[in-house]
Amino acid sequence: TEPLRIGLAGLGTVGAAVVRLLDQKRALLTRQCGRPIEVVAATARDRTRDRGIDLSGVQWLDDPVAVAQADNVDVFVELIGGDGEPALSAVKAAFSAGKHVVTANKALIAAHGVELAAMAEEQGVLLNFEAAVAGGIPVIKTMREAMAGNTISRLYGILNGTCNYILTRMEDEEIGFEEVLAEAQSLGYAEADPTFDIEGNDTAHKLAIMTSIAFGTRIAADDIYLEGISNITLADIRAARDLGYRIKLLGVAQKTDRGIEQRVHPTMVPIESQIAQVDDVTNAVVLETDLLGALLMSGPGAGGEATASAVIGDVADIAKSRPGRQHGPALGTPAKELAPYEKAR
Ligand code: HSE
Repeated sequence: TEPLRIGLAGLGTVGAAVVRLLDQKRALLTRQCGRPIEVVAATARDRTRDRGIDLSGVQWLDDPVAVAQADNVDVFVELIGGDGEPALSAVKAAFSAGKHVVTANKALIAAHGVELAAMAEEQGVLLNFEAAVAGGIPVIKTMREAMAGNTISRLYGILNGTCNYILTRMEDEEIGFEEVLAEAQSLGYAEADPTFDIEGNDTAHKLAIMTSIAFGTRIAADDIYLEGISNITLADIRAARDLGYRIKLLGVAQKTDRGIEQRVHPTMVPIESQIAQVDDVTNAVVLETDLLGALLMSGPGAGGEATASAVIGDVADIAKSRPGRQHGPALGTPAKELAPYEKAR
């Protein structure tokens, strides 16, 4: 059978893990998908860096657009990051060329998700972005597919591994903010610009994407009340603990009579609650629905392998799909049918 051919842009922690795992898990994935998955083309800023992966047999191209449009590529995997160029043009180029797209880029989906979903739907291709929200936790597929028919009233979660790691280490080891941040960076969890982690922007991107899927509204990432963890001190953490609470950076979205409320801020959660038990780089998402009550999913929210797991799952979906088949909408609701976003007043 014909292999599914991948063109990959971005070979950082996640990209390198994707290449390595597609190789290591080739037999398993071939059995699961009914055909092999092969990386045929790639690009990254630095060609020469040793990533400990085998790129022989992979065609090296100069820029992401070239990869997205390469004739021998079926799926463009965008792991560049950032809400603008070159990621945006490359994803659009892929759609124009009729290719499916898999991305881990939460900033891009938060800023341009509706437009990109509309393009994918128009072209009859898939836009999959499971890795963009909560790393390895399959929250997008769960909301988009498994939970069809549920009415979601509220969702909240720990959506940034770096912040949760910092807060956990500060509490357990009594070490200060700066020191733990450096540690998180050396583990490869933090964003290229770690202010995106600690000031809550990364959490906000993920929240905005989930809100759109949960409530069937357009994505409104600019409408999120935002407060990060950079001002949290050891004294705050101790004071919270003395009162029976832990401090977690939560993203919260809920439907109110006055519209949708979205916010990101450090929150005191009761020590005995499930969400308070979520430690280190682990993320957690709680979905409150009419049919399920509260559903909690937790798991690794950052890191090469966990995020690569979500990317590979998205690629495998495409490998299993058959040419000519109609695909479901990227945001769970067709882009044209998304309701306008109404901010709670
Ligand atoms: N910097 C992010 C985090 C990576 O720490 O959660 C996953 O998006």
